[in-house]
Amino acid sequence: MSSRSNRTVEDSRASVVRLTVPTDANFMGNVFGGVILAEIDRVAYVTAARHSGLNCVTASFDRVDFLAPVRLGQVVTFDSRLTFVGHSSMEILVEVHAEDLLGGPRQMVGTAFVTMVAVGPDGRPTPVRPLALTTDEERRRFQEGEARMNARRATRAGGAHAHAPDGGNQR
Ligand SMILES: CC(C)(COP(=O)(O)OP(=O)(O)OC[C@H]1O[C@@H](n2cnc3c(N)ncnc32)[C@H](O)[C@@H]1OP(=O)(O)O)[C@@H](O)C(=O)NCCC(=O)NCCS
Repeated sequence: MSSRSNRTVEDSRASVVRLTVPTDANFMGNVFGGVILAEIDRVAYVTAARHSGLNCVTASFDRVDFLAPVRLGQVVTFDSRLTFVGHSSMEILVEVHAEDLLGGPRQMVGTAFVTMVAVGPDGRPTPVRPLALTTDEERRRFQEGEARMNARRATRAGGAHAHAPDGGNQR
């Protein structure tokens, strides 16, 4: 592993394997989307905490795409890695794959971008170490992540009211 001041994408990669069980079911008999979301949140937390060495909170989820249903009894793997690191924020890509334990192809069933923010004991954002980029692909992903982070910032600068269900006209 690299020194604490120079962490690579590999240093904070995380993977979780989960067997889906009947208590995960939705009314269609497949896995409830919220179960997948919770696991995405957890594995993204592991990556953020590994990189920063700090406690982290989920600031946002965006582009969560469920590409195919997950069937009960399938094994689901959640792989997370850093794509972009800002001052206190970190963007994490989580890829979700499902497979039948008794054989069959491993299928990509979902992807998500999660933003985690490192916080101090007071719950306020705290600076994180920079990310050491080692491949052209990591450098490309970092640039794309920076563009997404700027777009999120611009959306927020439009006002918290832009997120309100009624457009912020509530009194
Ligand atoms: C996330 C949180 C710490 C940000 O605090 P804040 O006072 O808005 O902080 P700032 O405006 O100084 O932003 C700090 C960083 O967070 C980023 N950020 C803030 N809100 C964000 C959002 N909604 N999405 C993505 N990034 C966000 C900023 O871009 C900034 O990044 P940078 O330091 O890399 O430049 C705060 O909003 C919070 O505590 N939210 C609740 C988190 C939580 O409890 N999650 C679990 C839900 S149960």
